[in-house]
Order: sequence, then structure tokens, then C-alpha cells
Amino acid sequence: MYQPPTILLFLGRLHPLLVHLPIGMLAALAALEIAASRPRFKNAGASAGYILVLAAPLAVVTAACGWLLSLAGGYDETLLAWHKWLGTATAAASLVTAVFFQCGKTRAYRASLFVTVSLLLVAGHLGGSLTHGSDYLTRYAPESVKKLLGLTAADKTSEPVSSAELLTRPVFAGIIEPIFLSKCVICHGPAKSKGGLRLDSFAAAQRGGKNGEVFRPGDAAQSPLVQRALLSAGDDDHMPPAGKPQLSRAELARLQWWINAGAPVTNRLGELRPPPEVLAVPSAR
Ligand code: HEC
Repeated sequence: MYQPPTILLFLGRLHPLLVHLPIGMLAALAALEIAASRPRFKNAGASAGYILVLAAPLAVVTAACGWLLSLAGGYDETLLAWHKWLGTATAAASLVTAVFFQCGKTRAYRASLFVTVSLLLVAGHLGGSLTHGSDYLTRYAPESVKKLLGLTAADKTSEPVSSAELLTRPVFAGIIEPIFLSKCVICHGPAKSKGGLRLDSFAAAQRGGKNGEVFRPGDAAQSPLVQRALLSAGDDDHMPPAGKPQLSRAELARLQWWINAGAPVTNRLGELRPPPEVLAVPSAR
């Protein structure tokens, strides 16, 4: 895989830091201009020129850092392409807005600002989906809100209620998928597939990553998935990476047991006679 020079990646990683500055400034500018349309607040836009002189160049620099960040790869291609081009369009539109303002073309300036902020909203949302997964915003929304948005309520990461109920579940969906979904899929899923690996389905996990298989049915000790989890927390290859929610002891035990049991998928857990520690239901969070 192509590895860009580290200095470019370093600059690229400034993107998530910088991005909030032009966003805040453009949002504030739009709010001031809306207020200025009321006679009572007609001077609200008095600082527009100063804000634009900061916001437009910052938007351009932020977009440039974003392009560098995208070189690192591991993102969903389609989502990334949309985010990249809409982000670039936002930066361009903010420059155009600044030019209209400078030329004293008030109506064109206001229209251009409106376009800029609209682009910004969409680009920003896609950016959030890229980093946090597309359900980031709605994952913990109340059921009523989810229904309103037409989202299915199936939240696979929620722990089942009892060990007895677990025994009736298919093993992968019952105890393994919830671990992947809660601890791994944010980096190994549809939005990002770091190391070329996706863990959002059994088939994807079986395909493995850029270095091949990540688990060897029957041999947890020789399975990179477990080996990486067992590395010391300071090791660069440790999974999940330092600073991210780690596997609990019980989760690690489940993964090891599952691989050693031959990585079954649809068998009911009960048929496989798992040891008690695999069935232990973590106390409520
Ligand atoms: C914060 C992001 C992040 C999270 C969360 C994460 N990983 Fe990773 N993972 C990475 C990155 C980045 C790489 C690529 C490292 C490399 O290229 O050397 C990787 C690589 C891997 C690989 C090696 C793939 C290959 O073929 O080289 C395995 C196996 C793996 N991760 C397992 C897991 C498991 C299991 C979890 C959840 C318990 C997890 N990861 C959670 C970021 C993450």
C-alpha cells in the first residue's frame, strides 16, 4: 500500500483540529447576517469583514489538510469522495463570499454566504460520519426519534438480558458480533477499514486484512485478532489502539473460546457447551 511521507500525514491530522474554526466563524457570520435583517439589530453585521478575513483562508487551509489526511486511506471511498469535494466546495464558496463582500455586492454576498453554510452543513455531517460512523448521531437517540427518522431499532451492541437467553442465540450474532460492533467496527467497518480489515460481519472478518487471515479456527493463540489484543497496551500493534475503549477480560475470553471452538457462526450457543465465563453476563453498565 502507498505510504505518504509522514510530514504530510502530520499536517493532515491537523484537519480535525482546524476544521471547527471556520465552521464556527461561518456559522456565527450567518447568524449575524440573519439578525441584521431585523431593523433592531441592523448593525449586527458590522464585523462581517473581519470574520471573513479569518474564516476564508482558514477554510482553505483546513480543506488542504483534509486532502492530506485522506492520503492515509482506510476510509469508505464513496463517503470520502463526497466529503472531500463538498469540503473543497465549501472552502471555495467561502472565498467567493469574501470577494463579494469586499466588492460591496451585498446581495451576492448574502446569497453566497447562504450557499457556503449549506455546503458546510452537508460536508460537516459527512465528515462526522467518516470519523465516527454513520450512525454516530442517532445511535443513542430515543426510540421515538429513531422511529421518526425511519431507523430500525436493532441495536446489536446492547447486552442480552440473561445467560439463559444467550444459550438460545446463534453464537456469532449472540456473543461475538456485539464485541466487534462495540469495540472494533468504528475503525474496521463500512466507514473505515483500517489495515484493510472489516469486522462488521462474519464473512468480512473471515476475509481478513491486508496481512491475510485474522483468525485461525481452532487456534486462538495463532490468531492475529487475539494476539494483538494480548500485546501490552503500549505496543503499537495492540488492538484496540491505546486510548480507545479496550476489550474487557470477559470479551477477550469469549473471542478466544470462540476461535478455539472452530469459529462457529449459526450454532446455538447452548449446543456448544461453553464454559461459565463465556456466559457470564456483564453487570449492567
Ligand atoms: C481506533 C481505531 C481502531 C480500533 C477501535 C480497532 N483497530 Fe484494529 N487496526 C487499526 C489500525 C489503524 C490498524 C492497521 C495497523 C497497521 O496497518 O499496521 C489495525 C489493524 C488490525 C488488525 C491487523 C489487520 C491486518 O491484516 O494487518 C487486526 C487483526 C485488528 N486491527 C483487530 C482489531 C480488533 C479485534 C479490534 C476490536 C477489538 C480493533 N482492531 C479495533 C485501528 C483500530
